[in-house]
Amino acid sequence: MDIAGYVGNQHSGIVLYKNVWDKDANFIERLEDCIGDSTHEYFSWKESLVGDQEKMPEYRDCWDFKLRQSDIPICDPAFEEAGEIYKEVIAGVRECVNHYCNLYNIAMQYEEATNFVKYDVGQHFNVHADHGFSYSATVSAIGYLNDGYEGGEYVLPYQDVKFTPEQGDIIVHPSTFVYAHQSLPVTKGTKYSAVTMYDYNDRNHQDHSPQQSNQAVAQQVVEQHGGQVQSASS
Ligand SMILES: [Fe+2]
Repeated sequence: MDIAGYVGNQHSGIVLYKNVWDKDANFIERLEDCIGDSTHEYFSWKESLVGDQEKMPEYRDCWDFKLRQSDIPICDPAFEEAGEIYKEVIAGVRECVNHYCNLYNIAMQYEEATNFVKYDVGQHFNVHADHGFSYSATVSAIGYLNDGYEGGEYVLPYQDVKFTPEQGDIIVHPSTFVYAHQSLPVTKGTKYSAVTMYDYNDRNHQDHSPQQSNQAVAQQVVEQHGGQVQSASS
């Protein structure tokens, strides 16, 4: 790992790490061999969602696939290679995030699933912050897994940053609203990234989705009045 330094200056809080993974790590060929054509309910590329798990293609229209530490070891041998890729990717991410945390004297104990993201030609992710109404995060780490595409620049409009990624780069920055960012449309080839978010602890990572909240309210009513919880769809 090479520390390329701050994007802008130290006050910006945006740090770029270079050459985090070997050029011959070959993540993309291995990942596509493993899940490329898969229709498995979990080990497959999914249409990316936003906010409260909504499809909004005009806002975000790429593909993604998530893996987290607790998924390892993977029980289905057909997808073991995805676990190997995750382990190699997250090792590099953690090295950078640990360095970043030491720079700013913070400690991140909560690590979200790593989101492997795939942008085909024309696909993009519009301006958003990683910390907001539907999700909490403190530090965001965005790793770039391949070269050989055009477009797909990473833009942080309020920081006046437009960044052209290279394979092996990891950019680490705060997750909050002044670090809102976008991925511009890919114009040629396919871009792959690996995004992992961090937080101080898991206090803000209980499931507060509307469905879960309704279920919790229903459970409370049942506990007060007796009976069984009925789900909305039953
Ligand atoms: Fe993001």
